[in-house]
Parts: sequence; structure tokens; C-alpha cells
Amino acid sequence: MSDKVKNIALSPDGSAVRILDQTRLPGEVVYLDLHGREEMYEAIKALRVRGAPAIGIFAAWGLYVLARSYGEDEFFPRLDDDCDYLISCRPTAVNLARQAERMRALAHGMQGRPIPDIVAALGREAKAIHEEDVAMCRTIAEAGLSLLHPGDTVLTHCNAGPLATSEYGTGLGPLLLAAERGVEIKAYVDETRPLLQGARLTAWELMNAGIDCTLICDNMAALAMKQGRIRAVLAGCDRMAANGDAANKIGTSGAAIIAQHYGVPVYILLPSSTIDLSCPTGADIPIEERDGEEIRSMWYVQPMAPAGVKCWDPAFDVTDHELITAVVTEKGVIYPPYDVNLKKLFG
Ligand code: MRU
Repeated sequence: MSDKVKNIALSPDGSAVRILDQTRLPGEVVYLDLHGREEMYEAIKALRVRGAPAIGIFAAWGLYVLARSYGEDEFFPRLDDDCDYLISCRPTAVNLARQAERMRALAHGMQGRPIPDIVAALGREAKAIHEEDVAMCRTIAEAGLSLLHPGDTVLTHCNAGPLATSEYGTGLGPLLLAAERGVEIKAYVDETRPLLQGARLTAWELMNAGIDCTLICDNMAALAMKQGRIRAVLAGCDRMAANGDAANKIGTSGAAIIAQHYGVPVYILLPSSTIDLSCPTGADIPIEERDGEEIRSMWYVQPMAPAGVKCWDPAFDVTDHELITAVVTEKGVIYPPYDVNLKKLFG
């Protein structure tokens, strides 16, 4: 897998974070070198780099790149300011804050040491964060595949593939691993309104991997399940609360409610860096709201809603833990009661 998608990397001279600009897919594969904090903030906000684990990895590399240019006297105030700035960009995925805070804590723990040593340690930490995600995704893919059977067809929502993480992805990991082994698992792909991560990114990733996938509008999932076309729902996660409630792309909760109605299992696949035991329930997870223009006019040749119509554009929803059949992490498959079992493994 590793030679296939490099969504995030340090530029060869270390002066920038290089990303695959996800807003240009599927039409064009364009890489951007981001040097400054405003460029980095914009890339996260505009979803050039997106997906919970990916924005955490990006923030870690970003802080390393920024820290290389701080002067000795201003090092800690500037690091703190850049950390806060990047964290403020998107609120729902816990990975962003978690990895930025990990970088900050490492640097503060080295106060008094020479600045070049601290910068070097930040570089090693960003690399470790990235490599840990690669390893976790591989294990999650294996555990997720153990829940499926050759010939199964699954439903995906949003994009939880290599673009959103590193290498195998989470929600798409079992499919990619199965394809590598010559095992056929097919997918119905929710297009995922309003930002079309399913249509633009998941379909692109699955087709590149030679996986049989069929794109549907989000509101077609109920019929697909009623007709017995879907064996399981596989989704990623942006933040899981201590009781197992899972914030993920808007529409995940609807798919899970329909799945429960038709007796289709719902599997949420995520690395431990996405579990937030400090949030007791999903009600404590902040939900990002985005510009209504994403609904009114984005992707259309001309606006498809009256100019100025009021829009509400929550980017995520919370799937109640009762709707989740199993949670798949790098420590294996976890079943209810999630409040007990998550704490046992990750507390
Ligand atoms: O707004 P996005 O595209 O960053 O939202 C991403 C998702 O909701 C993904 O499904 C989630 O991050 C899990 S990805 C491993």
C-alpha cells in the first residue's frame, strides 16, 4: 500500500508539509507544499487535507515545520500560539487537538534544552505520530476484515480511506486488504452530501484499488438495505465518546438507524487516537457547522437554491452507541457495553 497514496509528507528539504489536495480529486492529482501557518489553517478549513487521523498527522508535521523558524526567545510563545491556531480550525475530530497537544507537551517537557534539540525532537514526534497511524490502520483493516465474508457487499459513508488517514484507512481498510488478497468484497458508496467525500474520494480510492463499487445518493441507502443488497455498514469516526457514541460525517447516524431497522450490522472503525474518554457522551462532542453555500451552490453549475435561503450545515452527527454493532480498533473488535469495554482497553 505504502507507494500508492501519500496524502501527507514532509517536503524533501523539510521546509513544508506536502499534501495531496483532496479538493481537486477525482479530476486532478495535485500536491501542495504548505510553509506558513495561514496556508496550513486554510488547507484544513477548506478540506484540502481532511479526515480525522489525517488532520492530526498534518498538524503534527505542520507544527514541526513552523517550529523550525522560531527564534530562541520567542520559541514557546510562538509554538503555543500556532498550536492554538491550528486546533481552532475544526472542532469535531479529536485527533487534531490531540496530536497538536502531544507536540506541545513534548516541547514544553524539554524546556531548558537547546532549541535545535527540541526542534529535532518535534520532527521525530511527528514521524512517530504518522507511523503509529500507519500501523493502527493496518491492524484495524485486519480486524475489520474478520467481520466480513467473501462476496459481501458493504455500505460506506463519507471517506475513511487512505486519504483520510494513512495507507489502509479505517472504514475502507477491510476492503483494501481483501482486494490485496484477492477476496471480493463489494461496496455501495454513499455520495455524502453536501461535500461529496463519498463520490469524489471513496469511489476514486476504491476504483483505483480495483474494488467493485456502486455510487448511490445518500437517500438511496434505505432501499438498498430493504432489498437485501447490503451486508454491513462500515464507517470511520471523528470522535468517540466514553459511552461509544460516535461522531462522524453528517448522515452516518441516518444510515445506522436504517441499518438497525433492517437488521444490518453497523461497524465503526477507528484508531485509539479518535477515542475521547473525556467526553462522557456524544452530547459533549462539539459539532462543526459550515457555510450554507456548500448546500446552496457548491458543485453546481448554477445555484440550486434561492439566493439567500437560510441553510443549516452541520458537518457531523452522532451515531448513538445503541446503533453500533461493534467498534473496530487497533486493539481488536469491541462489543457493548462500550462504556465498560472502551475504558478497560483505553482508560
Ligand atoms: O469533514 P471530513 O471530510 O474531514 O469528515 C471526515 C469523516 O467524517 C470521516 O468519515 C472520518 O474522519 C473518519 S476518517 C478515518
